[in-house]
Amino acid sequence: MATNRTFTMLKPDATGAGNTGKIIDRMIEAGFTIKAMKWTQLSLKEAQAFYAVHAERPFFGELTAYMSGGPIVAMILEKDNAVEDFRTLIGSTNPQEAAPGTIRADFAESIAANAVHGSDSDENAAIEGAFYFSERELA
Ligand code: RTP
Ligand code: MG
Repeated sequence: MATNRTFTMLKPDATGAGNTGKIIDRMIEAGFTIKAMKWTQLSLKEAQAFYAVHAERPFFGELTAYMSGGPIVAMILEKDNAVEDFRTLIGSTNPQEAAPGTIRADFAESIAANAVHGSDSDENAAIEGAFYFSERELA
């Protein structure tokens, strides 16, 4: 099941700029099916837990402050080859390096305010999805 699912968050810059609907449309047009979706906001502690894999990185403080500073939309998406295809759809972490037509090229403001998160592996997609959604919501 995990092999055809990925997890994404629309980041606070995307929700704050009113781009939520436009970005979700891109995902649907690219063939992703929404399996679960939630508009919510992380506390700083929750952001630190979600991004625990990055705890030793120099940008951890900036990242967790940013991600807890406004609303996010968490989603579980389904598609063949979901993790890889979704990362192609969103583009490089730095929007200045993101390929034309990708979500980050079109909506991201900076490396921190880069519009969307996309899981980097099937294993992390399952872990990240379970962070936000109960067993019943994951059905
Ligand atoms: P994401 O997890 O959000 O999909 O992004 P990613 O895989 O492309 O990048 P990752 O290395 O996992 O980093 C997570 C988020 O941390 C912020 N970041 N800031 N200041 C910096 O050098 C820096 N590097 C990364 C970005 O917002 C990135 O999405
Ligand atoms: Mg990542």
